Amino acid sequence: MKCKRCRARAAVALPSHHTGFCEACFLEFVERQVEKAIRSQGLFSHADTILLALSGGKDSLAMAHLLRRLGYGVHGVHLDLGIPDSSAPARAAVERFCAAHGIPLDVVQLADEGLAIPLVKDCINRPICSACGTIKRQLFNRAAVQGGFTVLATGHNLDDETSRLFANVIRWDAAQLADQGPMLPAGNGFAKKVKPMWRLSEFETAAYCFLAGIEYHMGACPYSRGASFTGHKSLLAGLEETSPGQKLQFYLGFLEFGRQPFRQAQAAAPCAIVPCTQCGHPTNAECCSVCRMREAIARRDMPVEL
Ligand code: FES
Ligand code: ZN
Repeated sequence: MKCKRCRARAAVALPSHHTGFCEACFLEFVERQVEKAIRSQGLFSHADTILLALSGGKDSLAMAHLLRRLGYGVHGVHLDLGIPDSSAPARAAVERFCAAHGIPLDVVQLADEGLAIPLVKDCINRPICSACGTIKRQLFNRAAVQGGFTVLATGHNLDDETSRLFANVIRWDAAQLADQGPMLPAGNGFAKKVKPMWRLSEFETAAYCFLAGIEYHMGACPYSRGASFTGHKSLLAGLEETSPGQKLQFYLGFLEFGRQPFRQAQAAAPCAIVPCTQCGHPTNAECCSVCRMREAIARRDMPVEL
């Protein structure tokens, strides 16, 4: 196969785009995809101050690398989850990357917040991946709001977005479908949230890291085995294999036609958001779910339904 742009020998085949690229042209292609993702959804501009949520995995570090190359002002934040054998190498990958690329970095240790993930896991009877996601969303939002950043960016890729969309459609979860997409505006105490990697697949971000020489943390979270999103991802991977390009079409179709009715319904009957009485984080209950986890941890021997 020949590179679509320069006709040299292709190094990366992209069946979903019915094409292939040599190394240099693939890096260029990925940059153009991110620019298109930012521009088409109005994610941010060069005037924004962007806080990057950096896990240490391929997607977040590729995002940091790409946004720096595209000339955006970025600052990183990493959450050290306190998971044995997993969190230390993830944190080291982020620290190494930021030091090498001159990106300022803040690290928040969940143990200092009383929320180390192994402790949370032992004290609640809810899947830990979902509780961990709730904690991360709250702490990233807090970092963005308190730090005065205009945008909070995460490295969610096309596979993350389509597997979540698929799960939301199976459950017809109207609230989640109204909120899904590459951009959620700021409001009610929430920072503006964006996903500049939404057009790129996991394979493409991994290939980008490999060719750009980005060292990332490869180990999967030890608690993610059997989580429902891994099943959804492999179902969609099977679909993509037989019909290349379907994942992007599924997501683009949702953004163009599928989301609107859910947004209209949400706007007609908005859910009241108030500051948590304990910590001030925006919530639709009196006390936010992270504060309820803290309470469960305080009463350690009594797991509670959250
Ligand atoms: Fe949070 Fe695995 S990364 S539970
Ligand atoms: Zn709270």
